[in-house]
Amino acid sequence: MEKALWNGKIVNKDEIKISIDDRAFHFGDGVYEVIRVYEGELYLAEAHMKRLYQSAEKVGIRIEVNPDTFLEQLVQLKEEANLIDGTIYVQVSRGVSPRNHPFPTPAVAAEIVGFTKGAKRPFEQMKAGVKATVIEDTRWLHCDIKSISLLGNVLAKQKAVEAGCFESIQHRDGVVTEGSSTNAFIVKNNTVYTHPADHLILNGITRQRLIELGRNHGIDIQEVAFSTEDLLNADEVFVAGTTVEIMPVIQVDDKKYGDNPGPITQTLQRLLHEDIEKVAGVRN
Ligand SMILES: Cc1ncc(COP(=O)(O)O)c(C=O)c1O
Repeated sequence: MEKALWNGKIVNKDEIKISIDDRAFHFGDGVYEVIRVYEGELYLAEAHMKRLYQSAEKVGIRIEVNPDTFLEQLVQLKEEANLIDGTIYVQVSRGVSPRNHPFPTPAVAAEIVGFTKGAKRPFEQMKAGVKATVIEDTRWLHCDIKSISLLGNVLAKQKAVEAGCFESIQHRDGVVTEGSSTNAFIVKNNTVYTHPADHLILNGITRQRLIELGRNHGIDIQEVAFSTEDLLNADEVFVAGTTVEIMPVIQVDDKKYGDNPGPITQTLQRLLHEDIEKVAGVRN
């Protein structure tokens, strides 16, 4: 039987009884994280936990359990679920209360669920690259919060699927923000550009790590927004996220990029793979 985390306890998945009055159902009122597990080791887990608490704080959800204990529970979940390669999904909703827009008063306990999913690393796509399509970013203005209200992102991903693409790269008034579930990057004249970590994007944990690794390696990485025109005139394009790692984009709509995956994308991929190997003891 598949295991899951439910408010601090590891239980069989079918033992979880989530109320229809959970605000996650009514309003998408909650926050979440997805943490990668490689060879049984959690990758960048502390950074994910930090962002989870930050997201919760930004929307006024109080997580009673402390981050260390919470992380221990996720490690226990990973063990009991026998997860070797895959992801841990964890969600914290504002809790259970009859449907009414304002926060419940008095406050109710946050409802926490977590589950695991086996997943292989997308080696073939990481080597060959993928296609993307450019679409308008129609999401709200709090994209820094990892909210479970993901309708905008779902619609954006569906547009990619319908266009035969791996990802949608979104823009607001011609300024590229991010993918539907990834951060977007271009390389021009050996400099990497990505949107600054403000309210218009989710500050990806993979984004943060690759910026750190790249800069330590001497690569010029600028957190400076770029336009859809810059995207089409770029030397290299890639997207990054927990499950896709660093994914080269070899075509955006009708535009094909020459030398692909490009050399800087490949260097960043190698640096990230080495980091995964170090942290999680994985062989790439
Ligand atoms: C909108 C959005 N941007 C960026 C990312 C990448 O973030 P991370 O690297 O933390 O997975 C995600 C991940 O789900 C996302 O949903």
